[in-house]
Amino acid sequence: MPAFTASAPGKIILFGEHAVVYGEPAIAVPVTQVFARVTVLPEPREERGQVRILAPDVGLEARLDDLSADHPLAAAVRGVASALDVARLQACTLRIASTIPVASGLGSGAAVSVALIRALAAFLGRPLTDAQVSALAFEVEKLHHGTPSGIDNTVVTYNRPVFFVKGHSLDTFAIAHPFTIVIGDTGVSSPTKETVADVRRGWQAQPERFEGLFAAAGSIARAARQAIEAGFPDRLGPLMDENHALLQAMGVSSPALDRLVEAARNAGALGAKLSGGGRGGNMIALTSPAAAPAVAAALAQAGATATIITEVKSHAG
Ligand code: PMV
Repeated sequence: MPAFTASAPGKIILFGEHAVVYGEPAIAVPVTQVFARVTVLPEPREERGQVRILAPDVGLEARLDDLSADHPLAAAVRGVASALDVARLQACTLRIASTIPVASGLGSGAAVSVALIRALAAFLGRPLTDAQVSALAFEVEKLHHGTPSGIDNTVVTYNRPVFFVKGHSLDTFAIAHPFTIVIGDTGVSSPTKETVADVRRGWQAQPERFEGLFAAAGSIARAARQAIEAGFPDRLGPLMDENHALLQAMGVSSPALDRLVEAARNAGALGAKLSGGGRGGNMIALTSPAAAPAVAAALAQAGATATIITEVKSHAG
């Protein structure tokens, strides 16, 4: 039996993080410069049921049976086995590698889950549809995030820009003109579960105020979609600035994120905001293609531990 490999990209949220948990729309795009890759190797000499998981990037080497049931990797493996009605898996080793920084808003958890689910299903000779892969990855996201909206598993599974509304089927849209985004990493790891829980506490304490912030973020996401479809991506700059201000008001920015956002704007970005859960992780800036290297350099100068320049390509929708 041959080895099977599957990859899945990173992602950024362009608009609407946090508000999306409360039913507002959000826009996310894949970032293919970073990715997770999972290879499933048969172990014909081992007994059925022996599954080994190797993730050298995070120093993990374990037998499936030794991982707790709520470990995301174990949950992904068991999710595939149960979806395919396989009681005891053929013996195998799952080798996991990822270039996506963890806990930084680039969707590393979702990408590992999606690649693992696809590779394992293919290894078992029963490839899953994208809808099945996304649904299984969503179950794993619940372990990472507590109450995820489902945006990460959706954009990572379908590997295309999505206009996402929680609980709704996939809504893709046209990108009439390509545009350039510079991503800057604060280097601060910040679990999304915590910021999502903090926003929930804020909403419980001040429901009207937070619902106003969520609704405003939803309007921005809708306006952004129109601008992207109509071929005016430059209009996204001010929308990013407004969305960042709303995220600050929700309490999920941080001095490090604000410093990078400010540095990007000063270096000529058309707009900038934090992306993902916040408090740490990454921020994004919209730039002209020509200005991107200078914005990336300014971010590094302001303390970004890594930068990525990515183009959101034209897409038929
Ligand atoms: O995984 P992150 O950090 O990009 O955050 C996901 C976006 C949130 O809206 C904060 C949470 C969610 O589940 O949608």
